[in-house]
Amino acid sequence: MAVLRSLLIQASQSEALERQITTRRFTRGLALRYIAGEHLDDGLRVARKLVAQGKTVTLDYLGEAVTGPDEARAASKVVLEALDRVGQESLPAGLSVKPTQMGLGMAADQRGELCRELLGDIAAASERVGADLTLDMEGSDVTEATVALVEDLHKAGHRNVGCAVQTYLHRTRADCKRLSGMEASLRLCKGAYAEPPDIAYQSGLEVDRSFADCADYLLAHGTYPRIATHDARLMEYVKRAVARLGLARDAFEFQMLYGIRPSLQDALVREGYRLRIYVPFGSQWFPYFMRRLAERPANLLFFLRALRDT
Ligand code: FDA
Repeated sequence: MAVLRSLLIQASQSEALERQITTRRFTRGLALRYIAGEHLDDGLRVARKLVAQGKTVTLDYLGEAVTGPDEARAASKVVLEALDRVGQESLPAGLSVKPTQMGLGMAADQRGELCRELLGDIAAASERVGADLTLDMEGSDVTEATVALVEDLHKAGHRNVGCAVQTYLHRTRADCKRLSGMEASLRLCKGAYAEPPDIAYQSGLEVDRSFADCADYLLAHGTYPRIATHDARLMEYVKRAVARLGLARDAFEFQMLYGIRPSLQDALVREGYRLRIYVPFGSQWFPYFMRRLAERPANLLFFLRALRDT
């Protein structure tokens, strides 16, 4: 299972496979189960629908690991446009951004100046429309740089910026403490990349234990924790911890990905919990789609069978 996951994560970086998959009508259709569509209007349309169902959203303009400044600037323009539209429509929506989409780690921006500038502009625009900005957490090569970006943005006065933290990493409990010290709101998730055993737990049991441990910490000491999982057992664990701590239902939120376990999403809303749905849009959906396939072997079997039959 871990090997399969690792292979799929590696495959998510293959340009040849990307061409194969993104140009076939069938696979594009499958991807649409997980993404709102290729345009900002698609993201907003889905956002409005979810909001009408009592959920909030975080919009994500798909894209990552850009290789040049022009690409990073073009991506930031779309994110700023998305924020404008969120403001105009008064949507209860935040933004999620991948730091490598804004140039983090790119050879042309070794000191990270462009990335900090673009994220600073996005953070300021988010504040103007009352939206939160969450930096997605990517591979472990940029974990420290992403945590440091949140610190820098807070020091620059952007208190509405937080990031995701991944419970498969050994370092995450310490990162929860480090970032909670500056009152950054964190999104707790298991982690979607393939990481080696010297820095990451490999078994589901250890990742879940770490999730519970970090959730306990964030609920007790963090700032508006965002619990991002589709794992019903962990959700129940969190609900019990919330009751034990006597926290109000609006002191934290659950988060789930668009298209995954919709009936569980509706059940959370019916029970009166806050739920934010992560809504990706854009044409660069291939790596995101491959990570979703890697999370569930049944997805892959379905996908391969369907690919064979097309
Ligand atoms: P788990 O994988 O155990 O899934 C529990 C159950 O949910 C499964 O049994 C299945 O029923 C269902 N399920 C899960 N994934 C599915 C899928 N792809 N298709 C169909 N069913 C599925 N990761 C990261 O590294 N950086 C980040 O910034 C983020 N951001 C993020 C935001 C939000 C809102 C969520 C919910 C998740 C992320 N993730 C992420 C992804 C996260 O790290 C993790 O890979 C997935 O959420 C899967 O883990 P679960 O906690 O859902 O448990």
